[in-house]
Amino acid sequence: MSQVMEVKDLKVYFDIKRGFIDDMLSKEKLQVKAVDGIDLTIGKGEIFSLVGESGSGKTTIGKTILDLIPATQGDIVFLGDSLKHKSKAEKKKFRQKAQMIFQDPYQSLNPKDIILDIVAEPLQVNGLIKNEKEKMQKVVNALEMAGLTPAEDFLYRYPHELSGGQRQRVAIAGAIVLDPEFIVADEPVSMLDVSIRIGILNLMMALRDRKGISYLFITHDLSLAWVISDRIAILYLGKIMEMGRADTIIHECLHPYSQSLISVMPVPAVNKEKERIILHGETPDPIHLPEGCRFHPRCPKVFEKCCREEPELTEVAPGHFAACHRIGERGRSLDEQERYKDNK
Ligand SMILES: Nc1ncnc2c1ncn2[C@@H]1O[C@H](COP(=O)(O)OP(=O)(O)OP(=O)(O)O)[C@@H](O)[C@H]1O
Ligand code: SF4
Ligand SMILES: [Mg+2]
Repeated sequence: MSQVMEVKDLKVYFDIKRGFIDDMLSKEKLQVKAVDGIDLTIGKGEIFSLVGESGSGKTTIGKTILDLIPATQGDIVFLGDSLKHKSKAEKKKFRQKAQMIFQDPYQSLNPKDIILDIVAEPLQVNGLIKNEKEKMQKVVNALEMAGLTPAEDFLYRYPHELSGGQRQRVAIAGAIVLDPEFIVADEPVSMLDVSIRIGILNLMMALRDRKGISYLFITHDLSLAWVISDRIAILYLGKIMEMGRADTIIHECLHPYSQSLISVMPVPAVNKEKERIILHGETPDPIHLPEGCRFHPRCPKVFEKCCREEPELTEVAPGHFAACHRIGERGRSLDEQERYKDNK
């Protein structure tokens, strides 16, 4: 599978502004480490899910990949070409090929515009339409591809005249009208009724099959990620804890954080006879990250080394990565390694 997107050691830190007095009293610069060293690749036609709790850095990663937020460190390589030191014109070309779909279809559509103008806007901004006939053709085509048929019934309506699912389809039409290679979909169905979600997910998968579009699918819902993705990365406080094929993550996960997320998935086929692992304590504050493994204050398997050394994301089996001191070579947990040594 050829690579569409490659993210290398991405860090995004936000400076925290404090009051004048606080700044005078403390010289320490406060930063939120929203994304703290992420490496990932997304292949052609691949759906890659980023799963994590609120505040884990999902949206920041998605926006930084699309150059909507500047990276503090690292590189984004799109179709083999680094985005570093690109001119404005080159970045504009990149943005045509890489689009974003947001969580709230109502906020992402201008309420004062009719659907025809909303979907045509990206074409207009990029100077891609020669006349009204071409504009109409391209918009009708995009609406129909997004499942809004017949398109003529939607062209002259306003966003408030559509249902939530139809609005999200308009947002998708606005993204695909530029014929993108890559889409970041940030919680695209979390505000929709369960009955409508499946239609939007099927549409995204059909666009992948028909046009070879690759997706970074952002969600806090692991069950959804499992249904839709080829691969999944589990994110915790700006770092990937575990990454691999969707089935591997769900059925053979090794990291204690992934195990706790999977143990509470409301899917009987996954959790038959398994104990629920309830995490205690709050997610630490991303301004004052704990030393060592950032998951250690909540980890049920924490041991001494975890409090002083940060584990690296390591390939524990082909294509399966995890960041945990308890996971050794070939995915054996530390306990299993001890037993293996004793039996030898
Ligand atoms: N512009 C900003 N300035 C300062 N901090 C920010 C900014 N944007 C995001 N953050 C912080 O960065 C961290 C990651 O935020 P982000 O929105 O990426 O999380 P998320 O995983 O998308 O969460 P959610 O599931 O709630 O959407 C959070 O602690 C957030 O408060
Ligand atoms: S490194 Fe330690 S604290 Fe971190 S996940 Fe593994 S066992 Fe838990
Ligand atoms: Mg978000």
